[in-house]
Amino acid sequence: MRSTLLASAAVALTAVSAIDTISVKGAKFFTESGDQFYVKGIAYQLVPDDPLVDNTQCKLDSNLMKSIGTNSIRVYHVDPSANHDDCMKTFADAGIYIWLDLDTFDTQIEQTHPQWNQTQLDRFGAVMDAFHQYDNLAGFFVGNEVLTTDNGSVAAPYVKAAARDLKAYRDKKKYRNIPIGYSAADIATLRPMLQNYLACGDNTSEALDFYSLNAYSWCGDSGFQQSGYADLIKNVTNVGYNIPIFLSETGCIKPRPRDWADQEAIFGDDMAEHWSGSIVYEWINEANEYGIVSYGAKVDPASPGAPPDGYPRSGTPSPCPRVPQPQLQMEDAQPHRREGLELQSYAYAAALSRFHERHLAG
Ligand SMILES: *[C@@H]1O[C@H](CO)[C@@H](O)[C@H](O)[C@H]1NC(C)=O
Ligand SMILES: *[C@@H]1O[C@H](CO)[C@@H](O)[C@H](O)[C@H]1NC(C)=O
Ligand SMILES: *[C@@H]1O[C@H](CO)[C@@H](O)[C@H](O)[C@H]1NC(C)=O
Ligand SMILES: *[C@@H]1O[C@H](CO)[C@@H](O)[C@H](O)[C@H]1NC(C)=O
Repeated sequence: MRSTLLASAAVALTAVSAIDTISVKGAKFFTESGDQFYVKGIAYQLVPDDPLVDNTQCKLDSNLMKSIGTNSIRVYHVDPSANHDDCMKTFADAGIYIWLDLDTFDTQIEQTHPQWNQTQLDRFGAVMDAFHQYDNLAGFFVGNEVLTTDNGSVAAPYVKAAARDLKAYRDKKKYRNIPIGYSAADIATLRPMLQNYLACGDNTSEALDFYSLNAYSWCGDSGFQQSGYADLIKNVTNVGYNIPIFLSETGCIKPRPRDWADQEAIFGDDMAEHWSGSIVYEWINEANEYGIVSYGAKVDPASPGAPPDGYPRSGTPSPCPRVPQPQLQMEDAQPHRREGLELQSYAYAAALSRFHERHLAG
């Protein structure tokens, strides 16, 4: 991380960079050191406007994330005028990258009245200006679930135009080659057309750098075929997909208990060749009950100082012990696994599973 120009010149002579940047090569992400990068992520948006301004909180959360092997968080909304130096350094020190949405509530592209105008470009650009300098900024999204129906495909050219313009902006400002992509809703009727449309074309200035999918189809006692993940992979292998693809949200909570076997599949032999990991939805347990930690018992939203939905949003992320269950022993179950990075990714699936077993009721 470079906090000031002067400091970076001095530090460059004396210290190795704290964290490698991530870039796209072909259909994979790589670190500067040349290792393939798999996203082992968790969605993180404690507060609506910006979860990256309270360093005390960033430290508490990043420590716990690090303990289970998380290497990425996804943040949906930030305030570009705020100072993020401390939180970004805290996450970098924990080896955690940020995948950041450039849009916010009043700038996002809407599928019903799609627009891509100068105001939006300026606002997305301001977020890029505020974050490009952090080495642990892994990638930017130009949209999240803009298209949610098949007739919503009228909005696709606007998403692609946004990516084109933000890539041009990045290059004009001589920022590093930060990957710019899109996070799609899992709409079967749009598959694989949307992912192909956004990735295709001879002119790389106009195509996305990566594609990602929010998939909630692995529910309960499911499997690679039954969940539809087998179709997802076909849509990538059958066309020789040309840019990295990963799951930008995953998880299904009904029926309980949440089954982390999806993570095992994502990092397993079937998918790891072609998909670059996943971002688990989500860190904080709130009204939708997807969270894997809580910051205390829900309070009456009407009580003084209560968070609007009653779910505490700061403090020590906490264990809510539940009836002990047998821990999944994924490493033991599959002794034939490949070595190296992929093995670490498997271990991540197992760690998430155990963490969840220990920490959260539900
Ligand atoms: C640009 O688009 C946004 C919606 O995303 C809209 O709120 C705003 O009014 C538009 N601005 C102009 C100048 O058209
Ligand atoms: C798509 O169709 C649905 C149902 O007819 C409608 O509610 C929605 O507004 C349409 N969306 C677009 C982008 O036209
Ligand atoms: C590639 O796309 C960019 C952005 O639209 C455009 O400026 C450039 O002229 C295109 N290059 C070619 C060779 O068509
Ligand atoms: C893509 O996935 C869909 C299911 O979502 C499947 O029907 C289709 O056959 C797949 N396409 C290819 C090229 O494999």
